[in-house]
Amino acid sequence: MKRLKVFVAGATGVLGRVVVPELCARGHEVIGLARSDSNVDLLQKLGAEPVRCDLFAAKSLEAPMRGCDVVLHLATSIPFKRRPRLGDFSLNDRIRTEGTRNLLAAALRCGVKRFVQQSIALLHSGHREAWADEEGPLGDHPPYASAIEMERTVWQSHGLEGLSTVILRGGWFYGPTAIHTRRLFGALRRGMLPVMGSGENHWSLIHVDDMATACVAAAEAPAPSQLYLVVDDEPARVKDLFAHIARAQNRRPPLHAPAWLVSLLAGPLAREMLAASYRCRNRRIKRELSWKLAYPTYREGVAAVLQAWSEEA
Ligand SMILES: NC(=O)c1ccc[n+]([C@@H]2O[C@H](COP(=O)([O-])OP(=O)(O)OC[C@H]3O[C@@H](n4cnc5c(N)ncnc54)[C@H](OP(=O)(O)O)[C@@H]3O)[C@@H](O)[C@H]2O)c1
Repeated sequence: MKRLKVFVAGATGVLGRVVVPELCARGHEVIGLARSDSNVDLLQKLGAEPVRCDLFAAKSLEAPMRGCDVVLHLATSIPFKRRPRLGDFSLNDRIRTEGTRNLLAAALRCGVKRFVQQSIALLHSGHREAWADEEGPLGDHPPYASAIEMERTVWQSHGLEGLSTVILRGGWFYGPTAIHTRRLFGALRRGMLPVMGSGENHWSLIHVDDMATACVAAAEAPAPSQLYLVVDDEPARVKDLFAHIARAQNRRPPLHAPAWLVSLLAGPLAREMLAASYRCRNRRIKRELSWKLAYPTYREGVAAVLQAWSEEA
């Protein structure tokens, strides 16, 4: 395997903190984007060379990217409000649109050969029982419009200046260091999160460690496809997932609540997110990139998260 020089935007995030050591362990040189002194220290500890720059300062990206073979765009800014509104996603939208354009422009100017873009399998939401593969129809949801625009920008750059682009549509990801995982598990432990409606809808999930190995595989592959779904083997019905997480914490399965009540308590956006249904397949990435799951279903993944927390405690 050729030693790659990889620029990682979002190196300090939940996903980036797993991707960076994985790349280093495989012998690659990693340049990680840092926006604070504490993240400079963090990236040094993880084995990367930190560079102080910002996705919105287009010029700042070019110098550190020079000589890189691969760029990974894993940056994001998902709001953690209990009652999120559409406007709370504006920074995240900007990272996906302006941030992606800036990274791509710098990559093209610097002669980068591979651009890997993290995206969301949630784009396939809206097709309750039907399975989706990469060519499956996308839903039409305002919160995901910026992800669609981001993907389009990446597609349009494919082939320019010898750049190959790869989009990874990741499932709803979870892991021991993700705040939303702590929130979900905590709410189910306290009996504070109901299943909305029948809970028959599907979520396609992915443990963050498996998302990370997919990012590395996309960086290394000699001739990857332009788009992969990165999800585990068993999309979960929300009622089964929530019941499993509650039981794994020695609690009873949650009660069910009507959508109008969820909307009243948590807001319409939370209702829409809980109602999402996407049942995605992972055949292409397994076949083409020989990608193997460490956590093939949420059952192994939930056990691993709880194990990690108990060791931490
Ligand atoms: N959570 C999910 O269920 C899920 C599912 C599928 C896909 N994804 C995607 O996976 C990716 C990684 O998510 P994550 O959970 O690892 O995110 P995260 O923990 O919130 O990390 C976000 C990262 O983006 C960086 N960032 C934010 N604003 C920036 C800016 N202006 N310039 C440069 N860097 C900036 C952050 O840097 P600082 O440390 O400096 O803030 C941090 O490294 C995202 O693309 C997300 O949309 C998430």
